[in-house]
Amino acid sequence: SQDTAISALRAAGVLPVVTVDSAAQGVAIARALAQGGLGTIEIALRTPAARDAIAAIKQELPEVIVGAGTVRVPEDIERARSAGADFLVTPGTTAALAEALVESRIPATPAAATPSELLELAARGFRIAKLFPVGALGGLKLIRLLQGPLPDLLLAPSGGITEAETPEYLAQPNVVCVGGSWMVPRDWLAAGKHDEVAAAAARARRLVDAAALA
Ligand code: 3PG
Repeated sequence: SQDTAISALRAAGVLPVVTVDSAAQGVAIARALAQGGLGTIEIALRTPAARDAIAAIKQELPEVIVGAGTVRVPEDIERARSAGADFLVTPGTTAALAEALVESRIPATPAAATPSELLELAARGFRIAKLFPVGALGGLKLIRLLQGPLPDLLLAPSGGITEAETPEYLAQPNVVCVGGSWMVPRDWLAAGKHDEVAAAAARARRLVDAAALA
């Protein structure tokens, strides 16, 4: 349900968006992220290995909450479900995709980029939306300006967010969670820099914990 998606993302605070080249790499990265304190991750359906990676992570690290990201068409929902994905994230939302997400009953955070798209999602019953690509749309200024007319719509901004900007995003009352790939750049993954991933995850965890106390 929506509540499940919201509480999982709120607890996570930072959602790493991971693009994997193999299932084994996905497991190694999920392990490193969890070691650092980020136990909720998004595997982007952008590579052929993504589905197998989700299934392998669910099998080997059952305590990790794994979402499927880059869900673009209704068919992706079944791919994600059969892999065992716990939640779904989209980069944008067609009417057909929004309908299929509601029907699937899988916790979902569909994306919007404008007030009209946000209203469209709210009208379909979504109380949380991914705001993508926030870095190009206006960043923190956009988040603040949306608080006026849409104070009750919860946001999970992503796209171009840096570690340095994360505390200010997390301080916004309408932000539930910040998505990003800065702790899992593909060149680190290709080079097996799992310690760096774990360290970046630990820094993100500290930012989330500090924001929760503020
Ligand atoms: C996403 O799908 O949320 C983005 O790919 C994450 O954005 P970033 O890679 O710019 O951090």
